[in-house]
Amino acid sequence: MLVLMLVLVLVLVLVLVLVLVLVLVLVLVLVLVLVLVLVLVLVLVLVLVLVLVLVLVLVLVLVLVLVLVLVLVLVLVLVLVLVLVLVLVLVLVLVLVLVLVLVLVLVLKWEPARLRKMPLPALGTLLTNTMHLWLRSEVKANEHRTALTPEACKELLGEGYTITVERSPEASTKRIYEDSDYEAVGCQLAESQSWPSAPKDAIIVGLKELPEDGSPLEHTHLYFGHCYKNQGGWKDLLKRFHAGNGSLLDMEFLTNDQGRRVAAFGYMAGFAGSFSALDVWCHRKLEGDKPYGALSAYPNEDELLKYSRARIEAAAAKNDGRLPRVLVIGALGRCGNGACDFATRAGIPEANVLRWDMAETKVGGPFNELLDVDIFVNCIYLSQPIPPFITEAMLEKEDRALSVVCDVSCDTSNPHNPIPFANKSTTFDEPTYQVKPKVGGPVDVITIDHLPTLLPKESSDRYCHDLLPSIRELKNMDSNPVWQRAIKLFEEKKALALA
Ligand SMILES: NC(=O)c1ccc[n+]([C@@H]2O[C@H](COP(=O)([O-])OP(=O)(O)OC[C@H]3O[C@@H](n4cnc5c(N)ncnc54)[C@H](O)[C@@H]3O)[C@@H](O)[C@H]2O)c1
Repeated sequence: MLVLMLVLVLVLVLVLVLVLVLVLVLVLVLVLVLVLVLVLVLVLVLVLVLVLVLVLVLVLVLVLVLVLVLVLVLVLVLVLVLVLVLVLVLVLVLVLVLVLVLVLVLVLKWEPARLRKMPLPALGTLLTNTMHLWLRSEVKANEHRTALTPEACKELLGEGYTITVERSPEASTKRIYEDSDYEAVGCQLAESQSWPSAPKDAIIVGLKELPEDGSPLEHTHLYFGHCYKNQGGWKDLLKRFHAGNGSLLDMEFLTNDQGRRVAAFGYMAGFAGSFSALDVWCHRKLEGDKPYGALSAYPNEDELLKYSRARIEAAAAKNDGRLPRVLVIGALGRCGNGACDFATRAGIPEANVLRWDMAETKVGGPFNELLDVDIFVNCIYLSQPIPPFITEAMLEKEDRALSVVCDVSCDTSNPHNPIPFANKSTTFDEPTYQVKPKVGGPVDVITIDHLPTLLPKESSDRYCHDLLPSIRELKNMDSNPVWQRAIKLFEEKKALALA
């Protein structure tokens, strides 16, 4: 029994141990399983995290790629739009150029060769359809004349010209027409001598010299340049035009197809010359040896004639009622015509006015007939060597009537001057000098070279009247013969000055 009990106990113990071992094994297995589960869970979590990160990265990359693609598409669209705009602009420009060329060719009869040679003012006119004239103020003392009167400006403005007029405030150079007269007809007023800042395509219109400051001349100037006959400083002036790329349309050389000047101050020069000669004659009859005073401009022809008629009447009364005899050589020309007209209008009878021209002088001088008249007015255009009309030696004659010589032609320095003793210029301040032969009394000589200034109004009116038809043609200066000749002459003279 005991053994049985012992065996039983042993079996029990064994069973217990087995159970324990089993329990232990079970616990171990459980722990292992738990650990495994944990590891699995961890691995799963890690895998999940990795997958998430990968997904995120992928999404980011996708977004970036999308943005890049979008930007590229935008840039492409922009470039396309730009190209389209450029193409459109080019097409527009081409169409405009085509229209311009068509207008030029069909409407304005444009030829490329003509355009290349076109002076700046004409080119400006072609493009803007207006010609700009700029009437400058004068700087030469006693110059009151103008090449453009307000009336002419009014006409030109009506024809589409633009006209600027410089004020002329200085008394000694005051234009015969008031600034306000120009303003009233629609001209723009500008400051005196402001023409250097005028638009480059404006034509600067004047009469006498420009300020001699050596500055380059950038405009086209229309005035008396006095530089085509090798006068003092001619090269310097032409070089100024060259330096500034400007040009000169010299008023003295504007000629028509027959070679005649289109406008000249000759008539009024003769008119004023004849007046001054008669006035000096009157002065000697009325005042004897007293020096003859200064001459100054008259407001108009009527006042000059009124004054002169009264003087002649008074002088004739002191000369036994005898009116002077006047001989005009070159009487058929502009100056001669004016000289004869003044004499007759001032009251000298037609019979006392002797008119000589080529026919009367063709036998060749000198001419004793000149000693038998009281006044000799020379108005010829000296173009070739001729023998003198009268010499100083001839004046030595007791019964000589001649006492006044007015040399309107003023060829004082010409070696073929037909009045050799008229060899220096006189002025408005000192209009005469005397030649004193041993017998026969002194002879007063007048050699003023700007006689028309004595009557600035009529001189301006007449000159402007004759010049106006050519001024109207300035719009077509690239084809008009008057202006073409003037441009050609300028180019020739400039080339000579630069040679
Ligand atoms: N002193 C001044 O203020 C002034 C102003 C303007 C013009 N001028 C000068 O007056 C002169 C004449 O100018 P214009 O416009 O009357 O010229 P113009 O051509 O109109 O007239 C000249 C006349 O002189 C005649 N003539 C020429 N040679 C002659 C001769 N040997 N004998 C006789 N007659 C002759 C011609 O047949 C013509 O009729 C020019 O020398 C000009 O420069 C002077």
